[in-house]
This record gives sequence, structure tokens and C-alpha cells, in this order.
Amino acid sequence: MAVLPLSDSAQVTTRKLTAQNPLIVAITNLKGGVAKTTTAVHFAEYLRQFGETILVDGDPNRSAIAWAGRARLEDGAFRVINEIQLARYSGQACAYVIDTKARPDTDDLKALVDTATLIVLPTTTSGDDLRVTAQTAQLLTGVGSRHHWALITKASTQGISDVVEAKKFLEAEGLPVFQHWIRQYKAYQYAFLEGVPVHRVKNPKAQDAWSDYQAVMQEIMQDNSATQETRHGD
Ligand SMILES: Nc1ncnc2c1ncn2[C@@H]1O[C@H](COP(=O)(O)OP(=O)(O)OP(=O)(O)O)[C@@H](O)[C@H]1O
Ligand SMILES: [Mg+2]
Repeated sequence: MAVLPLSDSAQVTTRKLTAQNPLIVAITNLKGGVAKTTTAVHFAEYLRQFGETILVDGDPNRSAIAWAGRARLEDGAFRVINEIQLARYSGQACAYVIDTKARPDTDDLKALVDTATLIVLPTTTSGDDLRVTAQTAQLLTGVGSRHHWALITKASTQGISDVVEAKKFLEAEGLPVFQHWIRQYKAYQYAFLEGVPVHRVKNPKAQDAWSDYQAVMQEIMQDNSATQETRHGD
């Protein structure tokens, strides 16, 4: 089993999200194809249980908007907008997830650091992706970020040695890594094509895939989580 159980998850209190104190998670990486959009969509899908959730598609390719455009949206679904529409909706949601394009420049990263309470860098376990992720983290630190975390994505379902090695590398680079990771399943491709979150795909592995994102979000939502913003409380 690739997902470790959360310790004491029953006793953990969940952080409170309100329109006045929203969670703003930005998903970025200089590297393309590392599951930024997939992560943004599934984070938003998880967060909507806590109240109004907005996914801001900051990628000119508008992949998240395309995903949602195919969606059979149900009641309570999260809203997907572009950064221009944000002016209309800012201040009303309790959670914002910002998807970004590959190769953001320093100004883009600075804007994310100014805005986000947490920045997540998805990366696969491939050497090149890890190297570029470490570079991205250095740039973020350079523009003042104090809350960026790596999330390992598309990990093998056949053993955890690649994940262990990847974590070791990232942590040696000074980049914190989520305890849980996202395994590689075809169900994500079907989810994208159908415009639904992975748990709504008819596939035997769909729930396993969704349980990975749930576990990562539970880490983020823990009231005492290390991923909590502290800047405003300093
Ligand atoms: N856990 C996963 N298992 C299998 N396939 C995945 C997984 N996550 C993402 N993918 C697939 O990998 C491809 C890239 O994913 P995605 O579009 O989310 O990456 P991205 O970082 O947003 O890419 P870009 O840089 O082009 O915006 C897609 O085909 C997606 O379906
Ligand atoms: Mg994308």
C-alpha cells in the first residue's frame, strides 16, 4: 500500500476556512507535465466540502477550464475561472486553488508568493523533474516564499523505492515533501477526458486514486499542520 495511514487522524482538528481567512493554494513548477492541473482540480474537489471553492486557471492553455467545461457539474461543485474573472469573485470563497502554466517567470512566482498561503510543487520521481523542482524551490525562496512543499505525483504503484529516493533528494535540497504521494493511474486520463474528478470515473482504481489526493489534503487541513500559513501571525 503506497499511502501511509495518517497518525491520530481521528483526533486531528481541521483548520477553519472562511471568506475572511481563506486557504489560497497555488500549484506551480517550472517543469511541465508534472500534474499541476490534475492536482489543482482534485484539491478544489476536496476543498468544496468546506464551502465555496474557486479554482483559478492561471495557465493560458486554460486546461483546468477545459476540464471543467466538459464536466457534468453537480450541486456544490467548485467554480473554475480565469484570473480576470477573479476580480468578480474575490473575497467570497473560503478556498482558492491557483493552477499555473509551466515555466512561470520570476514575476509570476513573486505574485504567487504575495498571494498564496501555501505553494505546492508537484513533481514526478524522474531525475529531471526533481532537479527542476529543486530549482523552482530555490527561485521561490529567492522571492521570499516560506511555504512551498513538494508533492510527489505519478508514482509507481509497484513499490515505494522511487518515492523514498525522491523524498531523500528533495529534503536534502531543503524542500519539505508531503508525507503522502499520488500514484500513477490511468483513471486520471479518463477523468480529464470526461471532465470529472477521478472518483467519478468508472474504473476499478478510481477510488484508490482519489484516496491519494484525500490523504494529501488531510495533511494540509490539519489545524496544526506545518503547511499552515504563519506569516500573518508572526
Ligand atoms: N497520478 C497520475 N497518474 C497518471 N496520469 C496522470 C497523473 N496525474 C496526471 N496525469 C496525466 O499526466 C498528464 C499531465 O498532467 P497535467 O496536465 O495535470 O500536468 P501539468 O503539470 O498541468 O501540465 P502542463 O505543464 O502542460 O500544464 C495528463 O495526461 C494527466 O492525465
Ligand atoms: Mg496544466
